[in-house]
Amino acid sequence: MVKLNEKFLHGFVSAEEIENIRSAASDAHTKLVNGTGEGNDFLGWVRLPENYDKEEFARIKIAAERIKQNSDILVVIGIGGSYLGARAAIEFCKSPLYNNLKKDTPDIYFAGNNISPTALTELLSICEGKDISVNVISKSGTTTEPAIAFRVFKSLLVEKYGEDGAKDRIFVTTDKARGTLKQFSDKAGYETFVVPDEVGGRFSVLTAVGLLPIACAGIDIDALMLGAQTAMKQFESFDLDNNAAVRYAVIRNILLGKGKNTEILVGYEPYMLMLNEWWKQLYGESEGKDGKGIFPASVVFSTDLHSMGQYIQDGQRNLFETVISVDNPGAEFVIPNDPANVDGLNFIAGRELDYVNKTAQTATIVAHNDGGVPNLLLNVADRTPASLGYLMYFFEFACGISGYILGVNPFNQPGVEAYKKNMFALLGKPGYEDMKNELEARIFG
Ligand code: PA5
Repeated sequence: MVKLNEKFLHGFVSAEEIENIRSAASDAHTKLVNGTGEGNDFLGWVRLPENYDKEEFARIKIAAERIKQNSDILVVIGIGGSYLGARAAIEFCKSPLYNNLKKDTPDIYFAGNNISPTALTELLSICEGKDISVNVISKSGTTTEPAIAFRVFKSLLVEKYGEDGAKDRIFVTTDKARGTLKQFSDKAGYETFVVPDEVGGRFSVLTAVGLLPIACAGIDIDALMLGAQTAMKQFESFDLDNNAAVRYAVIRNILLGKGKNTEILVGYEPYMLMLNEWWKQLYGESEGKDGKGIFPASVVFSTDLHSMGQYIQDGQRNLFETVISVDNPGAEFVIPNDPANVDGLNFIAGRELDYVNKTAQTATIVAHNDGGVPNLLLNVADRTPASLGYLMYFFEFACGISGYILGVNPFNQPGVEAYKKNMFALLGKPGYEDMKNELEARIFG
């Protein structure tokens, strides 16, 4: 379903360099599979494609059917790992224009992933006169951005449907026991789904966090899990020659050692945009710590060849690219002939548009290679849920190995707290008084 093509690493990474890292890669693989490394209390995602809660999985499908039947709009409230996976999956398997397509599933809007009054006001106005359900997702149950959005949408639903009616339209995905959201939901009688203790936000797309919104979009979540399961089985044994996840992790670290400290994930389809965002969080939060890490960036070509292309071709040579090429893009379109040929394009008339897109891809890879940018090519068969499940698991598994090779704990995110503490202090949250005084002196003094 996914193939790693290393042809365009030629001259940048040698077989000997890969061999030299064998022992570090094998150690990292063992740590991940046997749970013997740092952060091993967050490895629940490793066997998840097989060991998921089947009873909850069935409940997710039932809830999704109910939402599909009684809602024009599903509002998914969550931030970071609590929304990116679902949004990426919906755009990849359906469309970035999902809400504008003719379909028998509800529109899906994402809220609580920013603190923008504009975004919230616009969404409220879109919801006017529509039947709505809400899926609020927060593992901690205390994150400010989704908490504000949930406060607003909960009161909207209560106003529209009454306390009892709202109860049937609010679905909560959170910790099984801890946190304000769980306590509040139990009291209110909302249906709840679990973010397992041992699965961190950015690794949670195959739990209820991702699965409920994905199922509401009409995507086959059985196939998604099966694709991930295939990947899990293929990657569980260490095989430096054939394990694509291990090789990807190894190659990234070799390139980093040569000063290539920025990786750009490249797609050639607009439906890749949110998958790029999901990937950036996965790698950024997992590896960017202790002064280490590869900076994860992303582009969608050919669009961004007209904005970022110059830099990639010719700027600082600290870059490498990982290109995701979808073999079957999911649509056929033939370029029409124009008898007058006023635009001079008849040399490609009758060609599939995808042929031109893929030619742009090959041409760009070679040009960037010539400009000193190593390229890794990941061939994905198609946009099916099974291929996506495989791809997402591939990236998760490779991320764990890569982080261990790098020498960090890939499963914590201590740096995310810094802005929160400052924000709480400046907003006057009780308990932060001393910090508030100190910060105000720094900022306004
Ligand atoms: O990966 C992570 O842990 C984070 O991105 C979280 O998902 C994000 O901060 C949201 O946290 P929570 O689900 O607790 O609201």
